[in-house]
Amino acid sequence: MKNIIVSPSLLAADPMRFGQELASVEAAGADWHHVDVMDGHFVPNLTYGIPFVEALKKNSKIPLDVHIMITNPDQMAGDYVSAGADILVFHIEASTHPHRTIQKIKSSGAKAGIALNPGTPSSAVSQLIADADLFLVMTVNPGFGGQKFIHTAVDKISELKAMIAKAGRTGEVDIEVDGGVNNETVGKVRAAGATALVAGTYVYGAKDRAAAIASLRR
Ligand code: DX5
Ligand code: ZN
Repeated sequence: MKNIIVSPSLLAADPMRFGQELASVEAAGADWHHVDVMDGHFVPNLTYGIPFVEALKKNSKIPLDVHIMITNPDQMAGDYVSAGADILVFHIEASTHPHRTIQKIKSSGAKAGIALNPGTPSSAVSQLIADADLFLVMTVNPGFGGQKFIHTAVDKISELKAMIAKAGRTGEVDIEVDGGVNNETVGKVRAAGATALVAGTYVYGAKDRAAAIASLRR
């Protein structure tokens, strides 16, 4: 079995010290950097644009896991890959042509991921299991860090795991969980089949970031 991937979310980092913050979680054992792009329309918050992702790419030693919470992923996906996204995750709720967008991301050389809001059923992505590299299950409503974990979303992790197995793609497709992941909720999401964990507050807010990351892997 592959080791669980830990992807600390930069949303919880100190914005005045992004360079040092990247280096700090890299030294603490992070696998990926989770980068939450928000447009103020798809979600009620506004964060990073293309030049910022380019700057992160230049200063990062590990892959960028870029989660775009924007209304027009079909138009913008290619730009975020060019900017440096190694994994580009877009929302199924915002995409008119998800299949085409997956192809576009993969042909640009990145891994393609699809995110599902807490209110979106796993069936919404049933026709994309053969093509996507990753599914991201939101366990909070997107827009902010530090929110309470939504337990009812956990069933979706096991549903996706079963759908991936049925397609014969176990081990090829990651199931990432995003929102409220900490030492109390991690057991449940891992038992359900998560292979990648986003953690903002729990990692960046910890006094000992290496210990926080290690506790998610245990
Ligand atoms: C929420 C973001 C998350 C967020 C998670 O819209 O997608 O990545 O940073 O933060 P925590 O881990 O604090 O819930
Ligand atoms: Zn995210």
